[in-house]
Amino acid sequence: MALEISQASVEFPAANGRPPVEALRRVDLTIEPGDFTVALGASGCGKSTLLNLIAGFLAPSSGDIRLDGAAVEGPSADRSVVFQKHALLPWLNVIDNVAFGLKLQGTPKEQRYEVAEKFIGLLGLAGFEKSPVYSLSGGMQQRVGIARALTCDPKLLLMDEPLGALDALTRERAQELILRIWKDTGKSVFFITHSVEEALFMGTRLIVMSPRPGRIAHTFDLPFSQRFCDGEPARQIKASSDFVSLREEVLAIIFADEEEE
Ligand SMILES: Nc1ncnc2c1ncn2[C@@H]1O[C@H](COP(=O)(O)OP(=O)(O)OP(=O)(O)O)[C@@H](O)[C@H]1O
Ligand SMILES: [Mg+2]
Repeated sequence: MALEISQASVEFPAANGRPPVEALRRVDLTIEPGDFTVALGASGCGKSTLLNLIAGFLAPSSGDIRLDGAAVEGPSADRSVVFQKHALLPWLNVIDNVAFGLKLQGTPKEQRYEVAEKFIGLLGLAGFEKSPVYSLSGGMQQRVGIARALTCDPKLLLMDEPLGALDALTRERAQELILRIWKDTGKSVFFITHSVEEALFMGTRLIVMSPRPGRIAHTFDLPFSQRFCDGEPARQIKASSDFVSLREEVLAIIFADEEEE
């Protein structure tokens, strides 16, 4: 699966007395199979707008988005989204939440439960199949959301600040879990975060975006997630000198953007 965005712009028209917003200007981005692309940048720089374009929730004002050569014209099961807040269905238990996308696709119950069980196991939720989702901790609910996104076997997993609401320890565990799933399934990921450390640790490529107009200002290739998958401990990676110096470089770019405000 290759996703190709070329010269995509998004302008939201003037509304309620506010001027029009140039949320994205002439963005070029390619996501190759197995890429883990992370987007970072100040609030309002167009990260979610870019994700919504890829998801097909939003059409570009101009420019082009293609998946394996075919124009993206709307949402589809080949692109699953994990939101910042899990967006689970509170009246359903864990397994029915995880299997929900398959139900929408008309998959028979026995078969969708079988697939759901696989991802419930992969995300460490075995034993909680029949639990109502409101009885789970925030970290478990977020894992249910990730399991649900994976059951439809998407080519591309889109994650908009999926770990933002978690405490520090749960967040680090969830980062490692997502990297293991990424490696095991070979999926492509587009991941948004506000944490520079998380961005550097998770991605194979980092795009740093700038606001007004929203655009990709810098791109970095990253070695750290591969080092983790090769067996190096996460904390050792995050404390290493090359990680720390890149973290400071990226922070300086983001702070410079904020000072221009
Ligand atoms: N539906 C909309 N109508 C009008 N303006 C919008 C709409 N959605 C986003 N915008 C504007 O477009 C710009 C980019 O918004 P976007 O949500 O993509 O930013 P973001 O980088 O995801 O920010 P955050 O880090 O706060 O989530 C902002 O100025 C926002 O106010
Ligand atoms: Mg956003």
